[in-house]
Amino acid sequence: MARFNVSGLLVLFVALVLPSGALALWPIPRNLTTGTSALKLDTNFTISVNVSDSPSDLVDAVNQTKQYLENDRLGRLVVGRGANDTAALSGAKTISGLTLSLEENTTVNSIAYEARLKLEDRVEGYRLTIPNDGSDATLVANTTLGLYRGLTTFSQIWYWYGGETYTLEAPFEIADLPAYPYRGLGLDTSRHYFPVDSILRTLDAMSWVKINTFHWHVTDSQSWPLYVVEYPDLAQYGAYSAQQVYSEQDIQNILSYAGAHGIDVLLEIDTPGHSGSIGSAYPDYIACMYETPWSSYAGEPPAGQLRMTVPEVVNFTTSLLSSVAKTMPSSYFSTGGDEINSACYLDDPITSTYLNTTNTTLNGVLDTFTNSTHSALVGLGKTPVVWEEMVLEWNLTSLSNETIVMTWISSQDAAAIADKGFRIVQAPSNYFYLDEGQGSWVGGDPFGGSGTFITWQYAYTYDPLANLTESQQALVLGGQQILWAEQSAAQNLEPTVWPRAAASAEIFWSATQPGGIPLNGTEALPRLQDLRYRMVQRGLNAIPLQPEWCSLRPHACDQYS
Ligand SMILES: *[C@@H]1O[C@H](CO)[C@@H](O)[C@H](O)[C@H]1NC(C)=O
Ligand SMILES: *[C@@H]1O[C@H](CO)[C@@H](O)[C@H](O)[C@H]1NC(C)=O
Ligand SMILES: *[C@@H]1O[C@H](CO)[C@@H](O)[C@H](O)[C@H]1NC(C)=O
Ligand SMILES: *[C@@H]1O[C@H](CO)[C@@H](O)[C@H](O)[C@H]1NC(C)=O
Ligand SMILES: *[C@@H]1O[C@H](CO)[C@@H](O)[C@H](O)[C@H]1NC(C)=O
Ligand SMILES: *[C@@H]1O[C@H](CO)[C@@H](O)[C@H](O)[C@H]1NC(C)=O
Ligand SMILES: *[C@@H]1O[C@H](CO)[C@@H](O)[C@H](O)[C@H]1NC(C)=O
Ligand SMILES: *[C@@H]1O[C@H](CO)[C@@H](O)[C@H](O)[C@H]1NC(C)=O
Ligand SMILES: *[C@@H]1O[C@H](CO)[C@@H](O)[C@H](O)[C@H]1NC(C)=O
Ligand SMILES: *[C@@H]1O[C@H](CO)[C@@H](O)[C@H](O)[C@H]1NC(C)=O
Ligand SMILES: *[C@@H]1O[C@H](CO)[C@@H](O)[C@H](O)[C@H]1NC(C)=O
Ligand SMILES: *[C@@H]1O[C@H](CO)[C@@H](O)[C@H](O)[C@H]1NC(C)=O
Repeated sequence: MARFNVSGLLVLFVALVLPSGALALWPIPRNLTTGTSALKLDTNFTISVNVSDSPSDLVDAVNQTKQYLENDRLGRLVVGRGANDTAALSGAKTISGLTLSLEENTTVNSIAYEARLKLEDRVEGYRLTIPNDGSDATLVANTTLGLYRGLTTFSQIWYWYGGETYTLEAPFEIADLPAYPYRGLGLDTSRHYFPVDSILRTLDAMSWVKINTFHWHVTDSQSWPLYVVEYPDLAQYGAYSAQQVYSEQDIQNILSYAGAHGIDVLLEIDTPGHSGSIGSAYPDYIACMYETPWSSYAGEPPAGQLRMTVPEVVNFTTSLLSSVAKTMPSSYFSTGGDEINSACYLDDPITSTYLNTTNTTLNGVLDTFTNSTHSALVGLGKTPVVWEEMVLEWNLTSLSNETIVMTWISSQDAAAIADKGFRIVQAPSNYFYLDEGQGSWVGGDPFGGSGTFITWQYAYTYDPLANLTESQQALVLGGQQILWAEQSAAQNLEPTVWPRAAASAEIFWSATQPGGIPLNGTEALPRLQDLRYRMVQRGLNAIPLQPEWCSLRPHACDQYS
C-alpha cells in the first residue's frame, strides 16, 4: 500500500474547487458560466452549418460530432450512473439544433489550412451558447478551426442514461481561446514502429483535448521508417522491415487526417546525433557506427552520428532534409540536435584528422553544418526547431533568432534559453516524459531504469512560466508531453499516453481555471475522470485513474475527505 504525503495545501485547495461542476469539460474553457437546468438533446438533433462553401473537413467534423453525440453514451460518474437524474429530466426542455457560423467578413478556409498556419496566425477561439429554454445552441468563431474546437467542447457537455442524452447544467455560456498557441504531443517511431492506424487513433485522442501539434520524432539511430522519394535506400536498409515503413501514401494519410483534426505535424529528423540508422544505407556518412562500448559513444545503442566535417555529408543532409521538408505542409521542421557525443567524433579518424589539419573545433563544424541545413529549410519557408543543447551547449552563430528551442533536460533550463532570446516549447523530461518509470531496457543492468513514472497529477503541477521574468515568459509558445518508444509499441501506446497527456493539454489551453484561479489536481480529477470514461466509450484504451468506487463518488477519495 502506498503511503500518502500529508500536505496542508490540499485542505486549502478544496475550498477553491469550482462550485458547479461542468465536470466533463477538458480542457476547461477560459470563460465559462453554467446553470442548473436539465436539458435534453432531441433525438432528431441537427447541426446546421451556416458557412458558405463549407470546406469538406468542416462537414466531416460536424458529422463526427453527431456520431459522438449519438454513440458516446457516457453515464454520469455518480452512483447509479444517472438513474437518479430521470426525475430532473421529466420536465426538462429539449434542444433540437446547434448552428455554426463564422463572424462577419471572415475568409473561409479548411480546418487543415488554419491548423498549419504559423503559430502567431492560428485562431482557435470560439463562442458557444446553449440556452436552457429549448432554443437552438449557437457556435461562432473567426475560423473553421475555432468552430472545430467549439464542436469538441459541445460533444463533451452531454451525459446519457436510459435513452436520454442530457446535461444538468444548462444554460452554458462559453467564450474560449487557448492560452498558448503550441500544444503538442511527441511520439518516437524509431525505437519502435507504430502502425498508421495507431497514429490516427492518437490524433483522434489529441483532437479531443485540443492538442494542436503532433511532434513526430520519426527517425533515430535504431531505425529509419520514413520513405523518402529521393533517398529510398534509407528506409530500404534502415527500417526494421519492409512492413515497418511509412510510405508516401501513409505519410499523406497521417498529414491529412491530422490537418482535418486541427493538428499540425511537426516532423523531426534528428541530426547530427541520433542518426546511426542512416549508416545502414550510407555507411561512409556515419562516424563511430556500431562502435562499442556503445555507452562511450551514444546515449543509447547503437552508436553513430553524421560525419559533419565531410562536405558530401553536409550536402547530403541538407538535400535530405529539404526533400522531406518540402513535402510537409507545416511551417515548422525540427532538425533535432540533442545529445551530440564528442567522443564519437574525436575517436573517428576522418573527423579527428579534419579537426587537426584545419585547426577547427567541433563547435565550428556544427555551426557550418547547421547553417547549411537551416538555410535550406528557411529557403523552403520553414522555421527550424531544435533541442535545447543547440543553444545551451554549443555556441552557434548560425541559429537565427526565429529558431524555436525545445527544452527537455530539465524544467530549469528555460530561463537560459530565454536569455539568449529564443522562443521556447516546454517538454521537460522531469514533468512531461511519458516513458519515465518503465524500468530498464538495458541488458545486464537489473538496477537501472529511466526515472520514476510521472503521474498525471505531477505533470499537471508543471508551471511553464516558473522562474521566468515577464519578458522571458513572452517567449514561451507552449509545450508538450512526449513518448520515447524504447519500451512502447502499438500494444501499450494508448494506456501509456492516455489520459496522462491530457494534463499538458489543459496546462497549455486553459493555463488557469476560469476567473484566473490556478489549476489544481483536486478540482481537475473529476473532470479528468469524465474525459477518461468518455475516451473509453469512444474505444480508446485509456487507463483508470482510481478505483471505480472513487470514480463514482467525486472527491470522496480525496485526502481528508
Ligand atoms: C423526429 O423525426 C421523425 C421523422 O424524421 C419524426 O417521426 C419524429 O416525430 C421526430 N421526433 C421529434 C421529437 O421531433
Ligand atoms: C458520417 O459518418 C458516418 C460514420 O463515419 C458515415 O457512415 C457517413 O457516411 C458520414 N456522413 C456524411 C454525410 O459524411
Ligand atoms: C442514486 O440511485 C441509486 C440507485 O439506483 C442509489 O443507490 C444511490 O444512492 C443514488 N445516489 C444518489 C447520489 O442519490
Ligand atoms: C463587413 O464588410 C462590409 C462590407 O465591406 C462592411 O460594411 C462591414 O462593416 C464589415 N463588417 C465588419 C464586422 O467588419
Ligand atoms: C473574432 O475576432 C475578433 C477580433 O479579434 C474578436 O473580437 C472576436 O471576439 C472574435 N470572435 C470569436 C467568436 O472568437
Ligand atoms: C474572458 O474573461 C476575461 C475577464 O474575466 C476577459 O478579459 C477575456 O477577454 C474573456 N475572454 C474571452 C475569450 O471572452
Ligand atoms: C553539393 O550539391 C550540389 C548540388 O546540389 C553539387 O553541385 C555540389 O557539388 C555538392 N557538393 C559536394 C561537396 O558534394
Ligand atoms: C588530433 O589531435 C589530437 C590532439 O592533439 C590527437 O589526440 C589525435 O590523435 C589527433 N587525431 C588524428 C587523427 O591525428
Ligand atoms: C589553432 O587555433 C587556435 C585558436 O583559434 C590558435 O590559437 C592556434 O594558434 C591555431 N593553431 C594553428 C596551428 O594554427
Ligand atoms: C560556449 O561558450 C561558453 C562561454 O564562452 C564556453 O564556456 C563553452 O565552453 C563554449 N562551448 C563550446 C562547445 O564551445
Ligand atoms: C551561412 O552561410 C552563408 C554562406 O553559405 C553565409 O553567407 C552566412 O553568413 C552564414 N550565416 C551564418 C549565420 O553563419
Ligand atoms: C529576430 O530579430 C529580428 C531583428 O532584430 C526581429 O525583428 C525579430 O522580431 C526577432 N524575432 C524573434 C522571434 O525574436
